[in-house]
Amino acid sequence: MNGYFFDQAGDQRMEKQNIENWLALIRLIQKEAHTKDPQGKPSLPDKAWDILDIGCHTGGLLNLLNLMTRVASISGVEPLQYGRVKAQSLLHKSKSNFFETIQEVPDQSAHLLVSHETLYLVNDLYNWTKELKRILRPDGGAFISLGSHSENTAWLRWRNQLKNLYGHISYVHRPIEILGIGTGAGFDMELHRLHPEPHTSMRFSSPENGWGEFLSAQEALGFQKQKYVFVFYPKR
Ligand SMILES: C[S@@+](CC[C@H](N)C(=O)[O-])C[C@H]1O[C@@H](n2cnc3c(N)ncnc32)[C@H](O)[C@@H]1O
Repeated sequence: MNGYFFDQAGDQRMEKQNIENWLALIRLIQKEAHTKDPQGKPSLPDKAWDILDIGCHTGGLLNLLNLMTRVASISGVEPLQYGRVKAQSLLHKSKSNFFETIQEVPDQSAHLLVSHETLYLVNDLYNWTKELKRILRPDGGAFISLGSHSENTAWLRWRNQLKNLYGHISYVHRPIEILGIGTGAGFDMELHRLHPEPHTSMRFSSPENGWGEFLSAQEALGFQKQKYVFVFYPKR
């Protein structure tokens, strides 16, 4: 993969629009960090975390995590070279590392693994889930956030346009399938809404290239409401 994810304007728009989603994800992580597991132990370890973002793009979510949580190290997986370079210069921590593929990430290297709107670009959900298991520390957790692409009318329309305009190939993973595959791989799975109180998107008009129109208020609301966070706990 070379160049931008969309194009220069599209990538800037994505970064701006995703800030409220990243903040919602961090709020959930902070809440979970203070929640006990069924055995009474904290759901996430009470120490500085080694953090990994899969599909980190230019590092926006990692930058917020760096500001808002206790961080031991920051890493990202990003196929786009320009994303990895920008993320590295944004974070410039001595302990930061950016990889082109998930396979390059060392075993048991993350307490906290995040991924926002990337899983729909991954074909092999089974092997991806196995990779999460390999990378996560046993006391850690993975917070994977995704729109409900299989159940959302706007998305079902957009995905063809995104393929035609940008060559994006997307894969539909039904939420119940993600939960089942995670459980089958030995994870204790949780399902949360990303936005507990659904609100309409800031985007009411179509972005560049005209692919992202909502056709009704219900559809716009549904797009936010159906954003989920799948939490994978390796051992609880
Ligand atoms: C929709 S963007 C989301 C970017 C970022 N997570 C955010 O919240 O703004 C998807 C990102 O995943 C990257 N990506 C695509 N395929 C990937 C894969 N197999 N593994 C990791 N990242 C991937 C893309 O290059 C892009 O930066």
